Amino acid sequence: MRKALIAGNWKMHMTTVEGCQLAADVSKACSEFTDREVLLAPPCNMLNEVSHVIKGSGIIISSQNVCWEKEGAFTGEISPLMLKDAGGSAAIVGHSERRQIFMETDELVNRRVKGALSFDLLTILCIGETLEEREAEKTFVVLERQIRKGLAGVESADMEKIVIAYEPVWAIGTGKTASKEQAQEVHAYLRKLIGQIYEKNIAEQTRILYGGSVKPANVDELMAQPDIDGALVGGAALDGDSFGRIINFEN
Ligand code: PGA
Repeated sequence: MRKALIAGNWKMHMTTVEGCQLAADVSKACSEFTDREVLLAPPCNMLNEVSHVIKGSGIIISSQNVCWEKEGAFTGEISPLMLKDAGGSAAIVGHSERRQIFMETDELVNRRVKGALSFDLLTILCIGETLEEREAEKTFVVLERQIRKGLAGVESADMEKIVIAYEPVWAIGTGKTASKEQAQEVHAYLRKLIGQIYEKNIAEQTRILYGGSVKPANVDELMAQPDIDGALVGGAALDGDSFGRIINFEN
């Protein structure tokens, strides 16, 4: 049984005081879950404070990116060790904003994935096609490349630490969500692909999240799809009420 995972990616938003308030609201909203997990990815500067605020709630704390080295001359990066030191146990890797704005390649993303795994972090590998790629009917080719290259060298035994987040680039921050049918079609494809790369039982155990304009109004229908195991939420994760409703999705 795959446990649902709802992740809030705060991106480059909020001051520490605001972030701590939001974290406190989220931890109130998820008091008694046994069937789902909640993850927050605040900006690095407030990881420590937010970790203190959510202590005892079961919420997982994540960074929004992570380096593969534990220390050294890597200006602007956070190491897996620093992340753990600040109370984190998970990392988002390969987000489309990293790929598109900061030119991160599949090879670089793969280094990050392997670095995160070597520190035993829950590793959320983000993939997704652009609008041009979808319109050119290249969606599956692009996703296959991102999965194969992103997971290159990752052993079967490490797959329990991997979460895939399918985030069509055209749906991120645009208010345009993939329909539940579009999302389910891709998720089923990804599960089959993971089964081909690894084994069927690994594909069955791997959680695949959907991301891209997830909101209170569409979370229930998305979560009702058989291959959608959770959500990676951006904009709607910045408000305690809307994220509270999303983590309380009905199934
Ligand atoms: P969005 O962002 O929910 O604002 O579309 C999702 C994401 O970038 O992870």
